[in-house]
Amino acid sequence: MQKITRYLCSGLLFLTAAACNTDTGEAGSAAVIPQNPFPGQKILVAYYSHSGNTQAVARQIAQITGADLFALETVQTYPSAYNQLTAQAKKEINAGFRPELKKKVSGWEQYDLIFVGSPNWWGTYAPAVKTFLAQYDFSGKRLVPFFTHGGGGMQHCESDMHQQLPAASFLPAATFPGRSSGAKPADLQNWLEKAAAETL
Ligand SMILES: Cc1cc2nc3c(=O)[nH]c(=O)nc-3n(C[C@H](O)[C@H](O)[C@H](O)COP(=O)(O)O)c2cc1C
Repeated sequence: MQKITRYLCSGLLFLTAAACNTDTGEAGSAAVIPQNPFPGQKILVAYYSHSGNTQAVARQIAQITGADLFALETVQTYPSAYNQLTAQAKKEINAGFRPELKKKVSGWEQYDLIFVGSPNWWGTYAPAVKTFLAQYDFSGKRLVPFFTHGGGGMQHCESDMHQQLPAASFLPAATFPGRSSGAKPADLQNWLEKAAAETL
């Protein structure tokens, strides 16, 4: 009797999970129930996000992998008007400027894997991320970059990051269309599995 109850309960849980997981972004496609492909690793998801899209993906990654989240925030805030923002960003990127960040990661030594997220700004990653990469010691850690974009895709986001940290150990980067609802679960899962396979 106990056994029957257990089977009924697990079946009910599965159906509930499938019914709740409606964020496929595609009508009629099968629900993806994310699995952590990095079991046993201590993970940090550090990200910069100006308008929330990269934050949404960072939260999804943290939820799947059980990672800690760390939002990069600049001491000087950026202009809210879009034209001013893009002009300032362009100037900073061209100058290789590294804005000061508000907070430091505590317990840096404990992390094995660091996801680093940024919006694509002018074909590369945001200056706040450049500061972050310059501030920490990545030896003995693996870096997993991810980006959100407004139509340009990866451009030179990944290659610029490799150039900034030539000695670091990188897993493959991903880029996702910028949406407030985050990445499509299937795309996220495919990339995480591909990245995890490289750690074997
Ligand atoms: C200053 C600035 C520059 C941008 N440059 C690009 C670009 O070169 N290519 C692109 O595809 N999207 C570009 N975008 C769009 C962002 O990458 C996209 O909206 C992203 O998802 C924003 O992420 P966030 O909400 O986390 O800030 C730019 C946005 C801003 C504000």
